[in-house]
Formats: sequence, structure tokens, C-alpha cells
Amino acid sequence: MLKRMLIIAFLQAAIGYLVLPEIIANDIDAQDLYTSHCVLCHGEDGSGKTDLGSGLGARDFNEKAFQDGITDEQIVEQIAHGTEDKMMPFQDKLSSEEMHALVPVIRGFGK
Ligand code: HEC
Repeated sequence: MLKRMLIIAFLQAAIGYLVLPEIIANDIDAQDLYTSHCVLCHGEDGSGKTDLGSGLGARDFNEKAFQDGITDEQIVEQIAHGTEDKMMPFQDKLSSEEMHALVPVIRGFGK
């Protein structure tokens, strides 16, 4: 009896451990984050052809050369730290999970 209870407790803990990060990850609406924080400069279509984006020199996320020339880690780095006088850092505004969730949004423009 005790053994069975222990097994059940163990399984519940294991399931919680496996499922919880999924739930948290799914709670982030990356598209919504992009719309509220990035569209102003990078544009709805990721082209960077907005008044601000053009003026500051944002690159076109749709271009293969851009997509090939940047790693996922570099995208997260850029979001976290920004570029002085061009793009503000987001490390104090977005969680690490949110910044990582934005990578597929940026990648999506290249497809
Ligand atoms: C104030 C305008 C502005 C906002 C807001 C902004 N960016 Fe940027 N972003 C830029 C500019 C300008 C560059 C080019 C920086 C450079 O040349 O170093 C850039 C570069 C980037 C790059 C690297 C592309 C490259 O040229 O190598 C990524 C990825 C990126 N931004 C993602 C984002 C994401 C995601 C958000 C929203 C969380 C965001 N940006 C918000 C202006 C902005």
C-alpha cells in the first residue's frame, strides 16, 4: 500500500515537472509581444520599413541573408541588449522565456 502511494506521488511529481514548463511556455503570446514591442520599428511584416525602422537602419527580417547571418542566440542577445542609439534593450521589460519565444516570430518572417 505504502509502496503504491509512493509510486503515485512520484508519478504526480514527474508529470508536474514535465507539464508545467509547457503550460508556462504556452501562456506567452509571442505574436502579441511582437505587436506591442517591436512593430513600431520592425513593422507588421518584419521588413523594418517603418518611419522609425528606416530612420534607424533596421534590417529586413524577410531576407534570407539576414536569416542566415544570425543565430537564435544572437536574436535573443539583440532583444536583451539592443543596440545603443538604435534599439532599446528589453532585458528589463521581457522575461527570458518571452525573449526566447520571440525567436520563432523573427524566424517566421524568413519563410
Ligand atoms: C526603437 C526601434 C526598435 C524597436 C522598438 C525594436 N527594434 Fe529591433 N532593431 C532596431 C534597429 C534600428 C536594429 C538594427 C540595429 C543594428 O544595426 O545594430 C534592430 C535590430 C534587431 C535585430 C537584429 C537584426 C540585425 O540587424 O542584426 C533583431 C533580431 C531585433 N532587432 C528584434 C527586435 C525585437 C524582437 C523587438 C521587440 C521586442 C525589437 N527588435 C524592437 C530597432 C528597434
